[in-house]
Amino acid sequence: MRSADASLRPTRAEVLLDAIGHNLRVVRAAAKGCKVLAVVKADAYGHGVVPVAQRLQAEGVDGFGVALAEEGIELREAGIDRAILVLNGISGGAHRDIIAAGLTPVLYELSEASAFDAVSAGRPIDVHLKVDTGMGRLGVPLGELDEFLRELRRFPSIRIVGLMTHLSTADTDPDYVAEQIAGFAHAQGLVRRFGHEPAVLHAANSAACFRHPETHFDWVRAGIALYGYPGSSAIDAPLRPAMRWRTEVLRVRTLEAGDSVGYGRSFRATSTTRLATIPVGYGDGLLRSASNRGHVLVRGARCPIVGNIAMDLTTVDVSGVPGVAIGDEALLLGEQDGAVLDARDLAKAAGTIPYEVLTNVSRRVPRVYLNG
Ligand SMILES: Cc1ncc(COP(=O)(O)O)c(C=O)c1O
Repeated sequence: MRSADASLRPTRAEVLLDAIGHNLRVVRAAAKGCKVLAVVKADAYGHGVVPVAQRLQAEGVDGFGVALAEEGIELREAGIDRAILVLNGISGGAHRDIIAAGLTPVLYELSEASAFDAVSAGRPIDVHLKVDTGMGRLGVPLGELDEFLRELRRFPSIRIVGLMTHLSTADTDPDYVAEQIAGFAHAQGLVRRFGHEPAVLHAANSAACFRHPETHFDWVRAGIALYGYPGSSAIDAPLRPAMRWRTEVLRVRTLEAGDSVGYGRSFRATSTTRLATIPVGYGDGLLRSASNRGHVLVRGARCPIVGNIAMDLTTVDVSGVPGVAIGDEALLLGEQDGAVLDARDLAKAAGTIPYEVLTNVSRRVPRVYLNG
């Protein structure tokens, strides 16, 4: 696909870099003196990893978290020189590349320890050991940690410089957080008993950063908060959404009572209805499940999406907004004339979470980076 070009169509995602800088300061204040690792996987949650990471680095962030080796290598090639932690921990054939790029692997599999040891050329390989205290996906299960550490002695190059876990309910269930943190304390004791001295401990995601100071340890790993959302509806933090997703009205027409619109005729007008068509659809990442449920801002009014969202087009009821015309700005995310639609609104309409709304904005939508 030819790369997205903001000069060719009115649709674009404006990424507000000042908002990202502001959000980092909010996270830092909540993290109360511990370091902040910015999670920028999945193209910085859809915002564009290189400009976002460059801005965060300029703002003095302490390090970055990516899911995949190639995401970390892209950051190094863009001049990012802070610590980069590769969170997924399974490196395929990329062990040598990870070392060469100075990325820090997360470790929880002995086969990975063996593969790194094999390419170490006698130099120590610094890793963060991940323990599974209850997320149930990645990490050494607590019950297997003793055996894991015993076996790890076979790979003398591996140096555990960090110990981490991941919380599954920081946004919803404080009791389970407490259980996970108790498990993490147990893991710390065991790791030390085997002679390792991890200098950094970390467990907190964005929600834990705001809600659970007892999980802060040495680093917080903040993702969604940097993009403007606290990670839980229960958290009130002065964050600013960093993506403004805009397009323009392509066509305006009138439906009479009984007329239908779009594939499947899922909307039928019950009275005369003014309809604006906008050139954004699920091919741009607008979740189809927001059909007949989501909203778009036009002239500062929240206008309901009516009919099924199609690949390239969406139809919006603008009956309540006088004078809507071709070329008017239509906003899927952001602020317009004092009205706001954010990823929480769209997530609610689509039956998902803001993370998916943001990462789903497709490559076809040009990202335009704005300061101020
Ligand atoms: C291991 C790990 N830490 C931290 C985060 C950041 O989470 P959040 O975006 O909720 O701050 C993620 C994201 O999913 C993650 O996978």
